Amino acid sequence: MSDRFLTVALCKGRLSRLAMELFSNAGISLNVLDESRKLIFQDTENKLQFFLAKAPDVTTFVEYGAADIGIVGEDMILEEKRRVHEVLDLGFGRCRMCVCGPESARQLLTSGHSIRVASKYPEIARAYFRDEKKQDAMIIKLNGSVELGPIVKLSDVIVDIVETGGTLKENGLTVLEEICKISARVIVNPVSMQMESDRIRQILKRIREILG
Ligand code: PRP
Repeated sequence: MSDRFLTVALCKGRLSRLAMELFSNAGISLNVLDESRKLIFQDTENKLQFFLAKAPDVTTFVEYGAADIGIVGEDMILEEKRRVHEVLDLGFGRCRMCVCGPESARQLLTSGHSIRVASKYPEIARAYFRDEKKQDAMIIKLNGSVELGPIVKLSDVIVDIVETGGTLKENGLTVLEEICKISARVIVNPVSMQMESDRIRQILKRIREILG
């Protein structure tokens, strides 16, 4: 086995627990990342090191080769458009990318008029309104609590991920259109894919076995 540690970037937030569960099933406990302020964990036996980063940054770390492997939602892959290889659909972290808003905004989506869209995913929102709907849209970038957009009249609708639908319901909003389905993916740096292909293939094989 090569002496180099392979680095795995996991994203913070809703996917981190599921990703940690996956590695725990492979006999690698990452609890220290969850329970302390320690940012990086080394598994010397398997020559692997793991860190948690914000979801958009996981794709950045992998593109630049600072992480060989990343586990991240497909939403971030579509949004960030980084030069990484997407190699495996993990099948968990399932949700939908949707246009959401109050029921009263539904007619705006067919009116052909310009529409204001708030989103944590400006690139996905822009591409959807430009290429799919061919509707003029002003895209307003937010970093969280996007549902506030239509409530405080910052925007007419939002483009966001919907998992249980609970947040929409609690805020009087609904799904108006579905853009695409999303799940967690494994991404790999293109150079690592070539230089460390055996070890990466082994890791992917083990993950596939665990997922069944
Ligand atoms: C995400 C998303 C929605 C919510 C959807 O936000 O932006 O707000 O989860 O999940 P649900 O359908 O199960 O309610 P997140 O919790 O990541 O927090 P944020 O708003 O601070 O980005």
